[in-house]
Amino acid sequence: MKKSILLTVLCGVLAVSAAAAEKVIKLPAPEKTGGKPFNQALSERKTIRNISAKPLSEQELSNLLYAAAGVSRADGKLTIPTARNVQDIVLYAATKDGLYRYDSAKNELILEQPRDIREFCGFQVKMHTTAPVVLIPVSDSSKMKAMKFPEDRIAVYAPMHIGFAVQNVYLHAASGDFATVVCGALDTKKLAEEMKLPADSLVYVTMPFGKE
Ligand SMILES: Cc1cc2nc3c(=O)[nH]c(=O)nc-3n(C[C@H](O)[C@H](O)[C@H](O)COP(=O)(O)O)c2cc1C
Repeated sequence: MKKSILLTVLCGVLAVSAAAAEKVIKLPAPEKTGGKPFNQALSERKTIRNISAKPLSEQELSNLLYAAAGVSRADGKLTIPTARNVQDIVLYAATKDGLYRYDSAKNELILEQPRDIREFCGFQVKMHTTAPVVLIPVSDSSKMKAMKFPEDRIAVYAPMHIGFAVQNVYLHAASGDFATVVCGALDTKKLAEEMKLPADSLVYVTMPFGKE
């Protein structure tokens, strides 16, 4: 009797987790029009740390990833510039359901791990674990190595490319009345380990993102 109750409970938990973390989330096409006029968004760009747990829709997620480093043109180029168009930036989205990697060409989120790693995204743990998504822009520096970039250029370009994504996200947040903050106060080594990132992946900052 006890065994069957335990089994029923266990199956319930498994069913919930299986439903919670979809393996591939096919996102709707990003909205390329709308938002506030550019100069207004520029004036309203600001850090907001008071991010609520209100969920983001798939459309809002798609728009966010597009702003951060999405494909904006028919030739496959991005909303951010990268040296020699190396496109080293890989966007990860940490949510309560799991860690996802953004495939910008397909506009899909691929589940990397079905667990919540947001607590490792910054020392302001409550802020990170409350926000519906923590965006982690990572530079896959192996792409720059493959294109024979000198080491000293990689050291400059990787954080520079991430900075472009960060500023795009800040402006996107201002344009759509979202809340975000770029966070450098974190243990990047620990986060990279928890994310199980491939070698040559460089982590610098994270961005909890959501609504106030
Ligand atoms: C590289 C960098 C790292 C930052 N790290 C953190 C952080 O770990 N936690 C935080 O609350 N704010 C962080 N900030 C946000 C700054 O405190 C914020 O940008 C600054 O106070 C100016 O405010 P504003 O963004 O509204 O202009 C960081 C900003 C930058 C540029």
